[in-house]
Amino acid sequence: MDRIRIVGGRELNGVIQISGAKNAALPLMIASLLTAETLTLDNLPNLADVNMLLRILGHHGVDHSVDGRRLGAAPNASRPVHLTARDIVDTTAPYELVSKMRASFWVIAPLLARMGEAKVSLPGGCAIGTRPVDLLIMALEKLGASIEIEAGYVHAKAPKGLRGAEIAFPKVTVGGTHTALMAASLAHGHTRIVNAAREPEVVDLADCLIKMGARIKGAGQSVIDIEGVARLNGASHRVLPDRIEAGTYAIAAAMAGGDVMLEGAEAGLLQSALDVLVEAGATIHVVNEGIRVQRNGAGLMPVDIVTAPFPGFPTDLQAQFMALMTKAKGRSRITETIFENRFMHVQELARLGAHIRLEGDVALVDGVDRLEGAPVMATDLRASVSLVIAALAAEGETMVNRVYHLDRGFEHLETKLSGCGAIIERLSGYN
Ligand code: EPZ
Repeated sequence: MDRIRIVGGRELNGVIQISGAKNAALPLMIASLLTAETLTLDNLPNLADVNMLLRILGHHGVDHSVDGRRLGAAPNASRPVHLTARDIVDTTAPYELVSKMRASFWVIAPLLARMGEAKVSLPGGCAIGTRPVDLLIMALEKLGASIEIEAGYVHAKAPKGLRGAEIAFPKVTVGGTHTALMAASLAHGHTRIVNAAREPEVVDLADCLIKMGARIKGAGQSVIDIEGVARLNGASHRVLPDRIEAGTYAIAAAMAGGDVMLEGAEAGLLQSALDVLVEAGATIHVVNEGIRVQRNGAGLMPVDIVTAPFPGFPTDLQAQFMALMTKAKGRSRITETIFENRFMHVQELARLGAHIRLEGDVALVDGVDRLEGAPVMATDLRASVSLVIAALAAEGETMVNRVYHLDRGFEHLETKLSGCGAIIERLSGYN
């Protein structure tokens, strides 16, 4: 297992290329199960989660290749990846695969819609909370599926196909909206999703489904209408830029100081985070190539945030922003409203000298003048990268353990940061 060693105290200056979005890539790849024709995805990030999903999809019968050649290992991000589910060979997604990556539960929707049956393992808990799938199951039931849950598996059947219906989500769910979109695209008749997630990744999935022949209106708004079609075709689609990666490096630049150009980042995808960074003292310029983030010697101001569904402040940037606030001049208040247990980074940030007190779903962060490097580890990818951000501004050496969390969601993290002057390196082969 690898570690990352960081020596703090260097400004960041340079250009960082923003990769394709992990959380758009995953549902887009899963959408390949909806058609026997080829779905070509460009700008797929080269991440552990993407490679794991390729394996999972392969289990169901999806063939993948890069420019005609079958891939043994990782996809090359710079070239399109072709996914073809000519024949679905297995409609069961076993525990061994689903437990490795929660999002793979979403295969239930295309398998059910196309094959009339799917048996998918319940994903189980994870480091950021219990994360149930009751709303995904509710959506499929509304579309006419009969669902049985037995021995840890969700067994969904719709032998005569799915029927359009109104699906009103009692709370905003990204995965629920992805599931409903994919299933309703191949259902008979009209579906309306009410209180749909408005995240850019939902819009990206809808855009791709539309290219595949789906009839979807309203993605990006709270109400989405879908007119089911009998079959979907192949298509080519470019994965949208990763707003969480862009936000992470913007926060890193604000933390370390300096001047960083986030090439390919789209400001409209992370406006709430950029607004908060400006309040905290960073200078942001939106330019043709992307987003330029600068902070000179001036100190950081404390800012209160509350995580919320898009267009609110994203939960996936909460840990990184907390790292930034550990060095603000005063107290900031960070409220997590999406996941009940997403404060696992607090104890590790404390190891670097941060002063943070937890009160239920609120973290009170009292900025300190000085952080000091230490060995740390984290239990999910956003928490791990928050430790990297803190380490960039800490005195001395920080060793981040369990780097596989970072590899799930950040492409070439250490290369991107060292290219801007950070002292950061990967050390291979540690337990
Ligand atoms: C997606 O997870 C993302 N994952 C998460 O990113 C992200 O944090 C989350 O959306 C919120 O933005 C991917 O896109 C692969 P939800 P998802 O359904 O879809 C509750 C990262 O770091 N809920 O929007 O699983 C749930 O417990 C990851 O990249 C139910 O109660 O999240 C949560 O409180 C982590 N029942 C809330 O809804 C359900 O059936 C929102 O979850 C489903 C969800």
